[in-house]
Order: sequence, then structure tokens, then C-alpha cells
Amino acid sequence: MDVVHTAADLRARVSAWRRAGARIGFVPTMGNLHAGHLSLVELAREHAENVVASVFVNPTQFGPNEDFTSYPRTLDADRASLAAHGCNVLFAPSVDEMYPYGAAQTVRVEVPQIVETLEGALRPGHFSGVATVVTKLFNLVQPDVAVFGQKDYQQLLVVRRMTKDLCLPIEIVAAPIVREANGLAMSSRNQYLSSEERERAGVIYRTLCAMREQWNAGRPIAAIESDARAVLEAAGSIPDYATIRRAADLSVPDLSGRHGAIALIATRMGRARLIDNLLLAH
Ligand code: PAF
Repeated sequence: MDVVHTAADLRARVSAWRRAGARIGFVPTMGNLHAGHLSLVELAREHAENVVASVFVNPTQFGPNEDFTSYPRTLDADRASLAAHGCNVLFAPSVDEMYPYGAAQTVRVEVPQIVETLEGALRPGHFSGVATVVTKLFNLVQPDVAVFGQKDYQQLLVVRRMTKDLCLPIEIVAAPIVREANGLAMSSRNQYLSSEERERAGVIYRTLCAMREQWNAGRPIAAIESDARAVLEAAGSIPDYATIRRAADLSVPDLSGRHGAIALIATRMGRARLIDNLLLAH
């Protein structure tokens, strides 16, 4: 596996593949890779002969009081894991390489509507930063297919909307959430949890499953949501939301039709803010 740090070196690799008519798969990450990320690489391999993964902790998607500086940076370990999972090229650019005019002065990509709720409402500017960096990465890698984890469900919708609206010829593939034995969704931020908190955080997935059961039983959404919040609080976490939305656009479901819904949770446990979701069958 080659490791490249500049746009010029990446372009040289990608052009050679394109000339050979080979498909390119792409997995963008912020590094500190775990089994969830590596499942994205494996899925990309199923769709393309060549796989590029990027490791870039993107400053424009962090708010002023968020963990940009302390975000775990583990490039050597990431390189070894990616090589072992069949990645062909690791792109690990510097901030200057990605933002030649400085992160604060970058041209930004703004995605409307879908960013106005949940994570977008709680983290102003976050999805603009994500859409901006993903557009830049797409332009550099020129993939045929890009793989995103379903754990960041709203991000997946933002990337899909952006890709379609900007007429980018890229297939966006969603990868299933990879979970620990107690149901906790894998995330780089899980390492902010003590081992006791990590065990307790299994409550998030159990709550999502309970929300699904109640939804299937026809219980009103408000009652499901308030029970879910109470369970999360009783387990010592502080929920930002525990909600049921339409999976297509995260709007509040119309009670006349209970199809295509998703349960989503964001909650704070110790130093970590954890998000998770579960598609509902009906
Ligand atoms: O999901 C992530 O790790 C990031 O938001 C992404 C897509 C790599 C953009 O920085």
C-alpha cells in the first residue's frame, strides 16, 4: 500500500488507474481506525479494483468547543490496519494541502434542509465542513464509488444530497453499523469512555431496540421518545435527542403512514458524545 500526502501524488496514482480502466473505491475517514472503518474498506473492495482511504482530521467540521485538537491521531497504526485490509493507497494530507487559502477562507459547500435538524441544529457549521471536505476529497480521488457508515446517518443523507445535486458521478454506498458485544456502535470517540462507561453505553442500542418494538406495536411517537429519554437518563447519560424520524429526510413522520422511519439517539456519557440509529421495519 502506498501512502501519499499531496494532491499531485494522489492525482498521479488515480490517473494511472483511470487510464487502465479500473474502478476506484473511496473510504474517507478521520483516522483512529476501528473495525467499523475497516468494514468500509472491505465493502469498497467489493465494488472496485482499487481502494483509496483518506485519513484527515478536518478542521472545518469541528465547532470552537469541540475536540479538534484532542481528536486521536494514530497514523502509523491506521496505515498498518489499512494495508492489512487491502487498501491500495492511503491519502493523508496536511491541513495546508487541503485548504491552500486556509481553513477559515475556504470556498464552502452548503447543503440545505437536511442540515437544519438534529446534529446540524446542535452543531452549527458541522455539515458545511463535512460537505466541503468530502467535495474536495471527491475531486481529488475521483472515485466511482464511495462508502460511508450508516452510524452517521444524517451525514450519509447530506453526502447523498450533495453528490446528486452537484452532479458528481459517484455511487454512495451505505455500510451497516458495526457494534461491540454489548451493542455499542463502534466509534473513535468510544475511547473517551472508561471501561465502566463503555459497558453502560450498551443502553443506547437497547433503547433503540425498545423504540423499534414500541413503534411496531403502534405506540405514539411522543410516548416512545419520552420513555427512551428516561431510560438513557436512568443509565447516567444526558440525551441530546432520542427521536423517530422519516428515514428519507429526517422530517417528523406523518402518523397516517408509518413506513420508512428511523430511530436516532445522541447522548452524552462521561466525556463522550455518542450517536447511534436503527432503521425501523415499518
Ligand atoms: O465520518 C467522518 O469520519 C468524517 O465526517 C468524514 C466523512 C471523513 C469527513 O471528514
